[in-house]
Amino acid sequence: MIVVSGIQPTGNLHLGNYLGAIRNYVKLQDEAHANGGKCLIFLADLHALSMPHDPAELHASTLEMVATLVACGLDPAKAVLFNQAQVPQHAELQWLLMGTARMGWLNRMTQWKDKAGKNREGQSVALFSYPVLQAADVLIYQATHVPVGEDQKQHLELARDIAQKFNNDFASEEAPVFTLPEPYIPEEAARIMSLRDGSAKMSKSDPSDMSRINLTDDADTIMKKVKKARTDPEPLPSDITGLVDRAEALNLVAIHGAITGKSVEQVLGEFGGSGFGTFKPALGEALVETLAPISQRFRELKQDRESLDAILARGASKARELAAPTLAATYDALGLVRG
Ligand code: TYM
Repeated sequence: MIVVSGIQPTGNLHLGNYLGAIRNYVKLQDEAHANGGKCLIFLADLHALSMPHDPAELHASTLEMVATLVACGLDPAKAVLFNQAQVPQHAELQWLLMGTARMGWLNRMTQWKDKAGKNREGQSVALFSYPVLQAADVLIYQATHVPVGEDQKQHLELARDIAQKFNNDFASEEAPVFTLPEPYIPEEAARIMSLRDGSAKMSKSDPSDMSRINLTDDADTIMKKVKKARTDPEPLPSDITGLVDRAEALNLVAIHGAITGKSVEQVLGEFGGSGFGTFKPALGEALVETLAPISQRFRELKQDRESLDAILARGASKARELAAPTLAATYDALGLVRG
């Protein structure tokens, strides 16, 4: 079991990142540790170059995010925690895969289409080729399990296509260069939606801070955001069919279930017939109970800049070691001469 996943160190980590991905990093870190596997979680700082960014902010938020991930339960003694920029093999493998990835595959990526919008010509080459770097991120460690939210599923499918084509073109079925990675997507919280618009996913890039719950929000802010979350005037139904066409209500019920470990049906069994005046405070309290210890621990860890640097340096050194054999095998398979 080789668990690999990444997260962009831009903006704040939010409830969608936590329920969709980070919680599973921690779960799989523990499973891998217990079974003699490996777990590598990294900050995808090289990916941040695909959009306009402020260098000083990127630097600061990379360190803040290590603190957040550790506060969420990632343990540097069990998982290899690092940032991509300290492991140049990711970017190196990306280039080696560029001859295998097809323009048509990248053109179909929904995230590229969404982010580029009507202005494709004005986008950076990095935004277009980003999914090849993402493929390199996981293939370089022979990842088997990649914990991600639903929005990354297509990128993972592309990584599998690249691996498959490379193995076909330059290796053999008996001795493939790359393992095909499997996405590990949570059933209940694969796509957490914005608190202001049930048709948009909760996102760091949403200009409204009220649209998301940040992992660093304090209890008052969490309660305020939940109480102000957009809803409709109807009470909650007692059956899931009553949530059809009620995206905001469904999202809040799903969040409640994900945070308390209940299914949507169980939450409706408890709150069916209640209005949001009853449901929202209960949801807010459940969120505070889970997130308050995280933000408390984050505040403590954030002060210790030296420890954070040391976690990244140690993780990067281990990651470079683990990346070396696959990179060498890729050079060899491609017939590139190296001294
Ligand atoms: P990023 O930084 O946008 O998000 C990090 C993780 O959080 C998940 N996520 C969500 N899950 C549920 N609901 C939401 N509203 C929500 N928003 C975000 C994402 O699915 C992701 O798992 N390209 C990636 C980073 C990356 C990566 C990789 C991931 C780079 N290389 C290799 C896996 C493997 C990204 O931008 O995620």
